[in-house]
Amino acid sequence: MSQYDAKAESKAGFNPFDTAVAQNPHAHFKRLRDEAPVSGSPPPFQNFVLSRYEDVRWALKHPELFSSSADAVPIGQDRPLIPLQIDPPEHAKYRRLLDPLFSPKALSVMEDDARKLVNEIIDRFVDDETVDFHAAFAVPVPCTLFLRLMGLPQDHLEQFLTWKDQILRADAGLDDPIENHKASAAIRRDTGKAIYEYFAAAIAARRQDPTDDMLTYLVNAEIEGRRLTDEEVLDVCFLFILAGLDTVTASLDCMMARLAGHAEERRALVEDPSLTVGAVEELLRHETPVTGILRVTTEPVVRHDVEMKEHAIVTCLLHAANMDEREFPDPETVDFRREPNRHIALGAGPHRCLGSHLARLELRVALEEFHRRIPDYALVPGVTLEYTAGIRQVSPLPLVIRPAGTVGGGN
Ligand code: HEM
Repeated sequence: MSQYDAKAESKAGFNPFDTAVAQNPHAHFKRLRDEAPVSGSPPPFQNFVLSRYEDVRWALKHPELFSSSADAVPIGQDRPLIPLQIDPPEHAKYRRLLDPLFSPKALSVMEDDARKLVNEIIDRFVDDETVDFHAAFAVPVPCTLFLRLMGLPQDHLEQFLTWKDQILRADAGLDDPIENHKASAAIRRDTGKAIYEYFAAAIAARRQDPTDDMLTYLVNAEIEGRRLTDEEVLDVCFLFILAGLDTVTASLDCMMARLAGHAEERRALVEDPSLTVGAVEELLRHETPVTGILRVTTEPVVRHDVEMKEHAIVTCLLHAANMDEREFPDPETVDFRREPNRHIALGAGPHRCLGSHLARLELRVALEEFHRRIPDYALVPGVTLEYTAGIRQVSPLPLVIRPAGTVGGGN
């Protein structure tokens, strides 16, 4: 490897999900792409990192080599999460069942409800001078919508937020995440147990008393002529909570942090709201809220002269791939009209995001309404933003806001 000593970094325990990397990912990922496209730890760790667009996309499209089985991500679940931790061909059976729930047509009825909810949430803080965008907007919008979709009571929201943080951020607050690995694993296990118990009761209630919500659909769903078992419904629900609550919050955080620091981009959206669709795609690319996803090799695989042994854990760095100039000309520039924009912020291959249409709808409506109501905003002066590693939330995200009507046309 040339000047960039990826091996030395690996020995020192290079971790793409390190908080230091999270604060300044673009520069770091460029070095990886250019100088160590397959960077790895030597045995016995067997961890590798792919960072170029072509390599990441290729790995995700070859699940027979790069499995997403539960060995890749143990997060407190008893059984594989459905459909994320099921490999093809079995995976397709579950996607056929679940895809219709999240199709653009099925979701189109949600748009008015989403717009109304976004406005109700803005009403709560629009008259204040400052707001913590993360707590006041980015958390409640997707979480409230998601509970409505699932048919779960809104007053369980706090419980769900605690659970998903305990699973996804079990290391937070522990002084040394490596030393405290056992402690975080125990937190995940206990939380997993609580989630299973909650859904076991909810599933039993739907079997007895069906409604028209998503949980009832799952309880009655058939696969190859038989109903889903209670365990299968549980394994879908467990994943939905993790995948549906945190990611949209993180995307909203990343997008608003960027726009608040780049007034010309914010003004472009205020002046021409039709740019919002392109802005969602471009900001998903540039900010990539899910930094990377994990796979485990099913056999030895060689790429760029590096051998990844069987059972190696491979991090596919979506964020690094989305900033690769080999695919995206001038990748640092944010261009709401970028065309083509084949970003992989929502994954690629068979496991590409099931909730992508829902995510896009929520993000578009949230940005449209926020800019209509609050055309002028900026970061509170002197604040340094902190991005979490892995799924990139920004908490707190303090903004100075000036609502429409108090400024001349939102500039
Ligand atoms: C902007 C927000 C979102 C982002 C950035 C995002 C990102 C992703 C990514 C990168 C994957 C691929 C994971 C892998 O291959 O290992 C994925 C899969 C998935 N996402 Fe999302 N997601 C978002 C929103 C949602 C929402 C709202 C839901 C709603 C339930 C959802 C449900 C899922 C599910 C179930 C999978 C697994 C699909 C499969 O294995 O076939 N996601 N998502």
